[in-house]
Amino acid sequence: MPDVDKPEKGKEFYLDIPAKSTPFFLKGCNSLDWGMKNRLSRIFNPETGKTVMLAIDHGYFQGPTTGLERVDVTILPLLPYADTLMLTRGILRAIIPPAFDRGIVLRASGGPSILNELSNEQIAIDMDEAIRLNVAAMAVQVFIGGKYETQSVHNMTRLVDMGNRYGIPVLGVTAVGKDMARDAKYMRLASRIIAELGVTYVKTYYVPKDFDTVVASCPVPIVIAGGKKIPELDALTMAYNAIQDGAAGVDMGRNIFQSEAPVAMIKAIRKVVHEGTKPKEAYDFFLTEKNKGKNKKKG
Ligand code: 5RP
Repeated sequence: MPDVDKPEKGKEFYLDIPAKSTPFFLKGCNSLDWGMKNRLSRIFNPETGKTVMLAIDHGYFQGPTTGLERVDVTILPLLPYADTLMLTRGILRAIIPPAFDRGIVLRASGGPSILNELSNEQIAIDMDEAIRLNVAAMAVQVFIGGKYETQSVHNMTRLVDMGNRYGIPVLGVTAVGKDMARDAKYMRLASRIIAELGVTYVKTYYVPKDFDTVVASCPVPIVIAGGKKIPELDALTMAYNAIQDGAAGVDMGRNIFQSEAPVAMIKAIRKVVHEGTKPKEAYDFFLTEKNKGKNKKKG
């Protein structure tokens, strides 16, 4: 029997203080359930509203991609600087320490390899497996304009239904075919379709012209993919411009792990994304960090 509540001081109900009702910090996410918002807060930093996702899922269709031949050697040193990891369940179980305490965005679609028609994907995970792995979100590729467009949209809507049932957000990834125009018109079309059909947030490619209209016409947060490796200053500039245009972060892979100094690069990207550091300053920071790394190796 608990003690009867007889505190010496009277109860205080703070009748003059209205109950707090704080809107959720991410665009278009206010009506989501608590579990979804909690998971999104493991992906996006609630202080800045942004994320640096480290994408290392490339092996799911292209095998041991350059820089990912030995994830244990090349990627584990980057983990302290990633807000979130985007990867497959195979690499997660085999290599990532379960003590990793930030969000896991699990690759949830797959099927064809680079030797085949890439848009012919299926859902590649069961919901109970995603729950068992305690993921913060599931990622699905959507091929708007691709050969298997409808199938990939259907993969996405099924994952959204399953995710909504259990409070797991879905990241819709706009996959642009080799022959398609990478312009704002296409990115607006693809991003808007997948947001309308229910994804929690969208990953798309940055386009230099009118990217702000891609962000404006998408009702949920957008993060940008890094794309193929480009010089570090250019990648930092791309990330900076995307953030200025309203992106909620980056989901970057090759421009980090294929950099000549991956730790220095992810730290520089963090500065751009979370602190709004200008590209030239971030690049100088990258060079300083890179040289520190070299000196450490010598000593
Ligand atoms: C694969 C993906 C990748 O995660 C994404 O493209 C990786 O990032 P990057 O382009 O920066 O290497 O979604 O389709």
